[in-house]
Amino acid sequence: QSTSPTRRGALIVVEGLDRAGKSSQCEMLRDSLSRQGHVVKYIRFPDRTTPIGKLIDSYLRGSSHQDDHSIHLLFSANRWEIAKSIEEDIANGTTVIVDRYSYSGVVYSAAKANPTLSLEWAWRPEIGLPRPDICLFLSISPEEAAKRGGFGAERYENGEMQTRVRELFQTIFEKQQDVSIIDAGKSIEEVSQEIRGVVADCIARLDVAGALRKLG
Ligand code: TMP
Ligand code: MG
Repeated sequence: QSTSPTRRGALIVVEGLDRAGKSSQCEMLRDSLSRQGHVVKYIRFPDRTTPIGKLIDSYLRGSSHQDDHSIHLLFSANRWEIAKSIEEDIANGTTVIVDRYSYSGVVYSAAKANPTLSLEWAWRPEIGLPRPDICLFLSISPEEAAKRGGFGAERYENGEMQTRVRELFQTIFEKQQDVSIIDAGKSIEEVSQEIRGVVADCIARLDVAGALRKLG
């Protein structure tokens, strides 16, 4: 009987503006890590399938109204309700790829310029959530984003909001550790290759016997 401890998985977050290619890149990364023999799960926030997620979905589609603080806390609660299962997966050796996380959470809320909803206020409820081992920020210029087609119909999908979101992402990622900024204006294959390199480095450096850290 083997008593060797399980190597823990990595927590990989992919962030970026709409149309930066997050979902395609997450899928390609999942497939590439699977081929290398990793057990991988790909999840996304908001998780619209839970009761809280359904409230968020209705808000994003414009079918319901929410106070800015209230919806912010629901997005955060939507992460907290999944946090335990992420921790269990990681401890059991599964690598988890997450499409949007706390960084989208604070940036989209703070972009509303509500005087009582600062970045600092917005970060508070994120404290204690699982901390990503690496966060890949897919950075795309306004010009490149425009080339990739128009906005969808959801709340936040307008030029004014996206401009403020881009600025705030820059502000928070300047201070954040374990962030890799990826030029997402390149071809899908080039971006994918760069991501694979950054993730391989992260996994090689991972303290696989240590526990997942927490956001502070
Ligand atoms: P999606 O397009 O990735 O499904 O995300 C839906 C929108 O929700 C997107 O505009 C970003 C926004 N969002 C927040 O405002 N707060 C959050 O915590 C998350 C995860 C997303
Ligand atoms: Mg979207």
